[in-house]
Amino acid sequence: MPPVARYPLPVRQSPPIDTNTVLDETWVRDKTIVVTGGASGFGEAFFRRWAGDGATVVIGDINTQRGDQLVREVRKETGNPNLHFFHCDVTDWQSQVQFFKDATHVSPHGGIDTVVANAGIVDPAPALETPKGLDAPNPPPPNLAVLDVNLKGVLYTSHLALFYLAKNPQSAPADPNCDPATTVRDRHLLLMSSMAGIAPIPRQTLYATSKHAVVGLYRNLRCSSFLHGVRTNLICPYFMDTPLLTTVGRALLAGGSFGDVEDVVEAATRFVADPRVVGRAVAVGPKLKVEQDMHGQWSLVEGKGNMGEEKAIWEIYAHDFEDSEIFSRRIVGIMNRAMEIKGWTGWLKDMFAAVRYGLGGTR
Ligand SMILES: NC(=O)c1ccc[n+]([C@@H]2O[C@H](COP(=O)([O-])OP(=O)(O)OC[C@H]3O[C@@H](n4cnc5c(N)ncnc54)[C@H](O)[C@@H]3O)[C@@H](O)[C@H]2O)c1
Repeated sequence: MPPVARYPLPVRQSPPIDTNTVLDETWVRDKTIVVTGGASGFGEAFFRRWAGDGATVVIGDINTQRGDQLVREVRKETGNPNLHFFHCDVTDWQSQVQFFKDATHVSPHGGIDTVVANAGIVDPAPALETPKGLDAPNPPPPNLAVLDVNLKGVLYTSHLALFYLAKNPQSAPADPNCDPATTVRDRHLLLMSSMAGIAPIPRQTLYATSKHAVVGLYRNLRCSSFLHGVRTNLICPYFMDTPLLTTVGRALLAGGSFGDVEDVVEAATRFVADPRVVGRAVAVGPKLKVEQDMHGQWSLVEGKGNMGEEKAIWEIYAHDFEDSEIFSRRIVGIMNRAMEIKGWTGWLKDMFAAVRYGLGGTR
C-alpha cells in the first residue's frame, strides 16, 4: 500500500471510567498541576482539593488580587508550600508562555504532569443575540471576547501543554495499562467545555460556539496528542453555582437544578489521579437518583425509597462516539477503499501533481 494518510485517524481511548470505584487520592500527591482561571469557581475548587491532596498546584488568572490571597489562605490551611499563583491572561500568548515557564520553575521536579485549560467567560450581553447600533450607518463589529478567552485562550493553553507535557522529566508516553500507584510523572491535558459544548444554549450562541469548539479540539487531540505521549480528557459541566452565572442566567434557571461544584472536582480528580484514563469525556450535572433498565436507558427515580443510585457524572462520547461518526466512517471508508484501488500508480501521479503545484505549476 502507498504511504497515504488514512482517515479518520484512530482514536486512543481507554475503557469507560467506573465512577463507583473508590479513588485513591494518594495518586494525586507529588504531581505538578497547572490550572488556568484558577482564582474562582471550578479553578479555585480544583486548587483547594489538589492542594489538600499534596500536589504542587500552580494557578494563573487575570484576577491577581484574588489569586494571591487564595494561595496565602490555602498554604496556611493545608501546610502545603508548593502552591503558587502567577498573573496570566490566557488571551495573550506571551503571558501564557511566561506562566508555563514560571510553573516549571517552581515545580519540584521541573516539569508539569497535568494542565487544566479552565479559564472561561460568558458575555452578559451576547453579541449575536443583542444587536447593537441598529441605527448606525455602519454596523459595529461584534464583541468576540468570549471566543478570545474560551477558544483562543484554550488553544494557546493546549499548544503550550503539548510542548511542556512532552518534555516532563521522567515521564513516559501515556499508557492505559500503566500502574497508577507508581506512575507519578504524567502527561495529561484536561479540557473544560460545557453541556453548551454538546447542545445549543439559546441566547448564548458565542459561548456555545466556543464550547463546541473545545469539544472539537478534544475529539481531534484524542487522535493526535498521543504523538506527544499526552492523554487528553474532557469535562462538560451543566449549570453550576459559580460566579460565572449571571443574575439573568440564575433567574432563567429558577425552578431547575444546579449541579454541585464538588462533583466537577470529583470528575476532574479522577482524570488527574488515574493515568490510565485516556481520551474520555464526562458530563457533570445535578446529583439525581436514577435507575437503568435492561436496555441501558436511565430514568429518574421519583418518590422516596431505596431504588436506584445517586449519579452526577455521565460518560459522553463513549460508545455513542462511534454512532455519532457513523456517517463519516462509512463515507471515509469508501474513500479509503477508492484510494486502495488507485494504489501506487495513483499515489505517484498525485505526488507528481503535488510537486508541480509546489513549483508554481497547475494541478
Ligand atoms: N459555572 C458553570 O455553570 C459552568 C458550566 C459549564 C462550563 N463552565 C466552564 O468552566 C470554566 C470555569 O468557569 P467557572 O464557572 O469556574 O467561572 P468563574 O467565573 O468562577 O471562574 C473563571 C476564572 O477565569 C478567569 N479568567 C477570565 N478571563 C481570563 C483570562 N483572559 N485569562 C485568565 N483567566 C481568566 C476569571 O478571572 C475567573 O477567575 C469555564 O471554562 C466555564 O466556561 C462553567
